[in-house]
Amino acid sequence: MPNILSVRNLNYYYQDGDTRRFILRDVSYDFERGRFYVILGESGSGKTTFLSMIAALDTPKSGEILFEGVDIRRIGYENYRRNKAGMVFQSYNLIPYMTAVENVLVAMSITQNKLPADKKETAYNLLQYVGIDKAKANRTVNKLSGGEQQRVAIARAVATDVDLILADEPTGNLDEETEAGIVEIFKSLAHDYNKCVIVVTHSSEIAAQADEVIRLKKGVFLNDGQFSG
Ligand SMILES: Nc1ncnc2c1ncn2[C@@H]1O[C@H](COP(=O)(O)OP(=O)(O)OP(=O)(O)O)[C@@H](O)[C@H]1O
Ligand SMILES: [Mg+2]
Repeated sequence: MPNILSVRNLNYYYQDGDTRRFILRDVSYDFERGRFYVILGESGSGKTTFLSMIAALDTPKSGEILFEGVDIRRIGYENYRRNKAGMVFQSYNLIPYMTAVENVLVAMSITQNKLPADKKETAYNLLQYVGIDKAKANRTVNKLSGGEQQRVAIARAVATDVDLILADEPTGNLDEETEAGIVEIFKSLAHDYNKCVIVVTHSSEIAAQADEVIRLKKGVFLNDGQFSG
């Protein structure tokens, strides 16, 4: 079984007159199921750029992104976004006039993955798992706290039965205690449900909880484990 996600010699740059300003330089890495990864880097280091590419929201200048050994260009970006990867954003990006359970159901309605027959019950169960009880699940999401909205967004990301969860500064708008609760969910998804969870952040508190920490510095991935042995 190939790794769930492999990046090979990824390059990304912005053209600045005659010069290329590299954001990512020849980045290669393998990501496995069952692990919680944190990509740590200062503001402007290219974290969102990297995540956008592995989420198929942007295209690298060169290099390959392989999902289960298949180039995501071959899978098709739209297919990949709908059926292979779940995305969690800093600002939640829920549909504000819908309830929590409706937000989850929308995601379930656009995936082509095979889901349990009773979608609504599945959605409530998932929300329960992330700490949203039925009363909150039936509330329009703009009447939920930021931490609660992020829990809903995580439920939405996994509701399509994907094995790859990508998150960009998921606790950037939350206090420390709420952040800790969100991190517990990511850890549980990796360790109890065998998902591959990749979070980009500049929080060293989150990094301390990760199975593997990758530092993004000057466009290069630095990892104490995978490369230095
Ligand atoms: N359209 C653009 N043209 C030129 N440079 C850009 C453009 N978009 C982003 N950049 C630059 O690319 C670099 C990486 O940006 P990116 O958003 O990936 O950083 P980040 O690590 O996510 O930062 P933050 O922690 O602040 O979210 C930054 O220096 C940014 O200014
Ligand atoms: Mg960013």
